[in-house]
Amino acid sequence: MLLTAANSLLQPLAPRLLHCGGGGDLPLRSRRAGYLVMNASGEANNPAIVNAVFEPFEEVKKELLLVPTVPHASLARHVYSDPCEAAINDQINVEYNVSYVYHAMYAYFDRDNVALKGIAKFFKDASVEEREHAEKFIEYQNKRGGKVKLQGMMMPISDYDHLEKGDALYAMELALSLEKLTNEKLLNLHKAADENNDVQLADFVESEFLGEQVESIKKISEYVAQLRRVGAGHGVWNFNQMLLAGAAVV
Ligand SMILES: [Fe+2]
Ligand SMILES: [Fe+2]
Repeated sequence: MLLTAANSLLQPLAPRLLHCGGGGDLPLRSRRAGYLVMNASGEANNPAIVNAVFEPFEEVKKELLLVPTVPHASLARHVYSDPCEAAINDQINVEYNVSYVYHAMYAYFDRDNVALKGIAKFFKDASVEEREHAEKFIEYQNKRGGKVKLQGMMMPISDYDHLEKGDALYAMELALSLEKLTNEKLLNLHKAADENNDVQLADFVESEFLGEQVESIKKISEYVAQLRRVGAGHGVWNFNQMLLAGAAVV
């Protein structure tokens, strides 16, 4: 049935455009290799392509046969492997999970008996950003003709106080570890793209995520260093005020 459809589409074109033999159906412009040339003598309707390197209507036949006819199949999907599709869905889950943890941290630092509003704001913004990362992957999945499959998420812990480190340092060290873990996951995704010769996906991960991820790791590392330096108590309050005044999101 597909073959019939393809043929019926191509048939009417054949006399005009698929002809590439030697002599003279199209207006003749040239007989030099690979070029179409005009014949001033008036063979205006005669196509002639000599030594053509690309015959679009001939070569497109196999693609035309592959155009899906069932409504649940993507029309756009092209050179997109199942492992890459699955790896994107995994990364969507990673971004959502990290967003969820940051949201739990925001809720903790916003409590009335914790009241570190700057740190709360920092984690709220970070949570939104991770969700935006998930959405970026969702859009990309759809762009490539993959199917987004959302997976379950881990329930984050609710309390971030730590006996030795205190809450701010503990949460920031946790955030640093999460960003490094995300970096590892992104590198795995890039590896999946490489293994499946998906240059487009590799480029997407590189240009949209890898650079920014390194920036995030550097920024949170600095926050961990600063929190270690200032110690608990008043130092944390000053750190909190700095974030309240407006610090970059990770
Ligand atoms: Fe992210
Ligand atoms: Fe991040």
